[in-house]
Amino acid sequence: MDVLVVGAGTMGHSLAQVFATAGHQVRLTDQDPECLERALRFIRANLQTLREAGIDPGEDAVVLGRIRTSTSIEEAAADVALAIEAVFEDATVKREVFTLLDRHCPPHAILASNTSYLNIFEIVATSRPDKVIIAHWYAPPHIIPLVDVVKGPGTSRDTVHRVVGWLREMGKHPVVLKKFIPGFIVNRIQRAIGREVLSLLARGVFDPEEIDEAVRWSLGIRLPVLGVVRRIDYAGVDLARNVLRNPSIHLADTDDDARNLLEEMIAEGRLGVKSGRGFFDYCGRAPEELMKERDLELLKWLRVMDGGENDPG
Ligand SMILES: NC(=O)c1ccc[n+]([C@@H]2O[C@H](COP(=O)([O-])OP(=O)(O)OC[C@H]3O[C@@H](n4cnc5c(N)ncnc54)[C@H](O)[C@@H]3O)[C@@H](O)[C@H]2O)c1
Repeated sequence: MDVLVVGAGTMGHSLAQVFATAGHQVRLTDQDPECLERALRFIRANLQTLREAGIDPGEDAVVLGRIRTSTSIEEAAADVALAIEAVFEDATVKREVFTLLDRHCPPHAILASNTSYLNIFEIVATSRPDKVIIAHWYAPPHIIPLVDVVKGPGTSRDTVHRVVGWLREMGKHPVVLKKFIPGFIVNRIQRAIGREVLSLLARGVFDPEEIDEAVRWSLGIRLPVLGVVRRIDYAGVDLARNVLRNPSIHLADTDDDARNLLEEMIAEGRLGVKSGRGFFDYCGRAPEELMKERDLELLKWLRVMDGGENDPG
């Protein structure tokens, strides 16, 4: 299959890699030629990390040989069966890109968005609403298995069926959501967790080390086994009701504490891994080295979850 990926940033380069590794021909486009060059460097580094994790993603020359870069959607769109946009999260930019995709992709091509929060179905206008869909991946797409698949009011069953089929063939775990809701499932849950965690930190109730250590050794081990809903069944619905009734647990009910804390950190240049310091100090280690270390750990745990069956390579 020929696939077009528009936007070669954090998500787009890895999306191109996923499809190329699975044997598809990929056209990767970006308005910025430097982003395209950087994307190929990142893909090479990702393939090397996969190998270090004991996964064979194929030779660099073979995988990269399936990826053609271009700054022009017009030129790259011919003959594709699927186009995925991973451009900036901005309604105007998404609308412009979809207009170009609709104009230049063949009529049978499916047009997918990787948006995190935007209701694409209300934003874009195309001649093929039955072939417009959201396929929302998680960073880094070549490692994290989940893809949220969201249909709009006009999306056909056939489009959903085909997208889900392609994703499954590549070893991904598509979850088809009944309807669009900003943030889907996971980003909404992360937002709720973030509010409470940042509030606890802002009020100095706990240290970052304490919070991560506690979470790692409890939620961390439970989540892959039970998820969050089944866990309620195992704990007991009556217990869940009692927890809700407990008047002594006051959760943060605004983002105010969180916002103030983050603004202070940003003013101090503590942006996290990319600036060498966030809640933790990364002691001058390069972001690339830290990301690679993270990816190797993720791949290790993913193999445990998969029982070694589904190599992301
Ligand atoms: N970063 C994440 O963790 C993540 C996770 C899930 C979904 N998303 C979503 O994926 C999309 C991309 O996010 P990202 O983090 O990869 O962004 P990014 O800023 O890293 O990359 C976006 C790329 O799009 C290019 N671009 C912008 N406008 C363009 C245009 N009109 N034509 C061609 N190229 C254009 C930019 O040059 C840039 O290289 C967003 O919708 C975002 O919400 C991001």
